[in-house]
Parts: sequence; C-alpha cells; structure tokens
Amino acid sequence: MTRDRWYMNLVLYQVNPRTFFDANNDGIGDLKGITKKLDYIKSLGADCIWLMPIYPSPLKDGGYDIADYYGIHSDLGTLDDLKELINETHKRSMRIILDLVVNHTSDQCEWFKKAESDPKSPYHDYYVWSSTDQKYQDTRIIFLDTEKSNWTWSEKAHKYFWHRFYASQPDLNYDNPAVREEMKQIMLFWLNLGIDGFRADAVPYLIERDGTNCENLPETHAYLKEMREFMNKRFPDGILLAEANQWPNELRPYFSEGDEFHMAFHFPIMPRLFKSLALGNCESLIQTLKDTPIIPKDCQWCTFLRNHDEMTLEMVTEEDRQLMWNFYAPEKRMRLNLGIRRRLAPLLGGDKKKIELLYAILFSLPGVPIIYYGDEIGMGDNIQLNDRDGVRTPMQWSGQPNAGFSSSTPDKLFLPVIDSGAYDFQQINVESEESDNQSLLNRLRSLIRIRKANPILSTQEYKIENEGNTAIFSISRMSILCLNNLSNISQTVMLGEGEFKFLHTSLPNSSEGTAIKEMIVLEPYTYAWLSRESGQGSA
Ligand code: NOJ
Repeated sequence: MTRDRWYMNLVLYQVNPRTFFDANNDGIGDLKGITKKLDYIKSLGADCIWLMPIYPSPLKDGGYDIADYYGIHSDLGTLDDLKELINETHKRSMRIILDLVVNHTSDQCEWFKKAESDPKSPYHDYYVWSSTDQKYQDTRIIFLDTEKSNWTWSEKAHKYFWHRFYASQPDLNYDNPAVREEMKQIMLFWLNLGIDGFRADAVPYLIERDGTNCENLPETHAYLKEMREFMNKRFPDGILLAEANQWPNELRPYFSEGDEFHMAFHFPIMPRLFKSLALGNCESLIQTLKDTPIIPKDCQWCTFLRNHDEMTLEMVTEEDRQLMWNFYAPEKRMRLNLGIRRRLAPLLGGDKKKIELLYAILFSLPGVPIIYYGDEIGMGDNIQLNDRDGVRTPMQWSGQPNAGFSSSTPDKLFLPVIDSGAYDFQQINVESEESDNQSLLNRLRSLIRIRKANPILSTQEYKIENEGNTAIFSISRMSILCLNNLSNISQTVMLGEGEFKFLHTSLPNSSEGTAIKEMIVLEPYTYAWLSRESGQGSA
C-alpha cells in the first residue's frame, strides 16, 4: 500500500512533450519547455502531469516504440533537464508520472538488434519467437488498418517474432525472468530520479498462451503484482496507472486486492459520454456505471474524454460503433482503426456549451479526470496528418507565429500548427482564452476549483437520480446534486425537499451561491451542480 493516497483525488494533465513548448527553438517541444509552462498547468488546477514517452525512439509510434529505456531522446533534452522538470513540478506541489512501455520495445532497441542477429545472445529470449505464424490465432489484431498479423518474419533470425502493435514493436517475453527483472530495474532508474509513478502502457498483453486470446491472463496479472510490490517496497508513494482497454469486468482484476494497480483508465465510460450526448439520452452511460464493479478502497479510476490516440470505439458494440462513426466521423478520413482521429472540440462541432457539459459530467463521475493538453482551450485537429498526429499538433499558446509554440521557422516544426479554419491558432489560443473570463479555459478552471473543493466528487459513493428522464444525467454525491441536460430541449427537474445553492452551472444568470428551491429548468446542453443546504431525502 502507498503511504498516502495522494492519487485518489487528482486532476491529471496529459502532456505530449514534442508538441507542448519548444524552449530551444529547434521546432520540437522539449523538457525545458514543459518546465517553463508549469505555472500554466498549475493554474488550471492540475495536480499531476502525465508525461508521454521521452525515451530515445525512432518514433514509428509516437515514442511508444522505445529504443533505450534508460535514456532521454536528444530532441527532448537531458536527464538533468528531466530532474529540473521533476523538481520544479514538486516545488509547485504537483506530481509527475511517466509512460512506461511494458509490453514491447522498438525494433531499433539494442536488445532486439542483438536478439535478431545472434540466437545465442541473452537478448534473443527477450522476445517471443516462432517458426510458424499460426500460433495464438485467437488473438485479435489491434492496429487493424496497418497490420495483417501479430507475427512478422525476421530475415535475420529466420523466425517469426510476435507483436501486438506495429511490426516495428516486437513484444517482450515475460516468460523470461531476465525480462521481468529488467523492467523492474527500469522502473527503479526513473523512480530514483524522482518520478512519482507510471502510466503502464498496454498491460493486458504481456503473456501469450495457446488456446487463449492472450489478453488479461492470470500469468500477466501475477507479473504486474510483482512490479507493484517491487516498486512500493522501495518507493511506497509511487503509483501505477493501468492502460488496459478492456470491458469493466476485465478491468476489475487489474486492481486485484488493492495490490496490483493503484489506478486504471475507465475505457468503457468514454464512448458512452459521447453516445449519450449524440442521442440526448444517458441510458448507456448509466448502464456502464451500473456495470462498473466496486474497486478496492485504495484504488481509483481514471476517466477521460480524449487523449493522444484515436477516440477508441473498441469497447462498444458493432451497432454503436456504426452509430458513433456516422455521427462523429462522417468523413472516412476521420476514422482510424476502430476509432475516430479527432480532438474533443471538433467532435462536438466547436460547441463550447457541449464541451463544458461533457467536462462537467466527467468531473462529477467517480475517479480522477484527465485533461489532454489543448482540449482545455478547445484546440482543433488536422485529420490529413499521418496516423494519430492530427490530434497531437503544437499547443496553441498565442496568435504569434507558430502559435507561440516555437520561434523556429515553420518548416522545422515537429508537426504543423493549425493555421486555418475555425480552430486556427489566431482564434484559439491560451492568450486569448486567458483574457476572457467566460472562455472555455476559465470556465474549466472554476469547474476544477469547485470539484477539488468537494473531494466527495472523486469518490466511489454516488447515486443516480431521476432515472425516469433519460435526457438528464443526474448524479448525487452526498449533499451535492449534479444535473446535466444532454438534449436539445429545455428540461424541468423537480428538486424535492429542501433548499439548494448553485455550486457551478452553465445556466445564464445563475451564479455560484444563488439559492434555488423545488425545481430547476435546464436549457439545452446546460448543467448545474447544486448543494443541498437543508432538508432530507434525495432529489
Ligand atoms: C497505447 C498508446 O496509448 C498508443 O499510443 C500506442 O500506440 C500503443 N499503446 C502501443 O504502445
């Protein structure tokens, strides 16, 4: 168990280091750049930064293809830069966690190069080999758009190697004790530098077994528990966050008895938030909450609207996938694998009311919410870019050249800034959001402030209210009642006994602290967080 439960009530902020802020003006964001922007992150109300991969990498998969687990990509800076970032983050009473890619390496990793070229090398057995590509046929392919098989032939080794993602990302062999030990040493290396924990990437796939789908296997859980024990013996406050894109009942074992992961992303909630908004009906969201198992008391969910990947539609039925694609990704180019490569604001047609509504719901659900950099100002995407790059464009800081992200020439930018259309950086940027007290950024800041002032909002204790009206998602947390109108029609909600006060709302002319009794009328796509001041019973 960790000494203190600092991770239970956080707001997490996800940063893509290459596109956040470029401090040395080479066109690529870097660690020093993030350090420079820590006050901005703090001003949002975030308590913890999730730093996406910083390791040396050929970047075939945005850095999730690691070539050296004990280094930092030269574009991003040095170990000293990281130490400075960690120190400065801690000075501001924030924490910082790193992505740890457990399942696979890059094919450019020295381990794989040695493994391929020399079958007698100790590194050969770091990977999963086979003379046939017919093993483990019950295993799904994740990157459906590009991969035909989970096996790829190695000309050098004269065997097939196993990979759950791109063929340039060979899977590590967790049946090998040396791999198990190596990954622990990697954790130790970064923890010793002051990192507060890890977002562990792609954890369901560590072990392969015949006759299974090679996901969520008991042997995989056994190793993940070993990792946890190893870390917390040395770093009792270190945390592990599981990236396991699975259904709720398959997610539950990742917490085990509170001795595996501290946190796990709640993947199934995310598409239901968007589905509920599309249909003006929250039944699917409520059902998913009901299907969500109770988790151990020292464990926590992580909830999110968007991240650096396509908006995954893996955890929905085929029928819902078609519905979501038709609604949110009418153009073919918007679709990728089983998902949608669009950012939050364009998904919602740039409608600030809807964006704020989804955040308000997210912040009222059990768990720790994550904000993906740029979504707090309603940044757009560029679906013409390769793979998922369209949702990873440079942070739009100002209307200055290169959106204030970098002073390099535009041709040197790691990815182009968005400079046309409704999401042009001249229109959408931090500077202009800062200067308008009703901007999305400032509205979110106050939403976060109120959520943090009411820690009950992050706990597992909640009650769904008013189930009769499916246009209203209504959730109560002790004396707080959160009402959300998902429809395009005004809705009247009877409040029952007692007097309420507005904690926060997007209703016009209703400010914090105003009293309200008996009933409330919620205009289309508005929400209200109310606190019960007196009286008993629920709404
Ligand atoms: C999940 C990460 O979020 C994604 O970006 C990556 O491509 C895969 N894991 C493979 O590492």
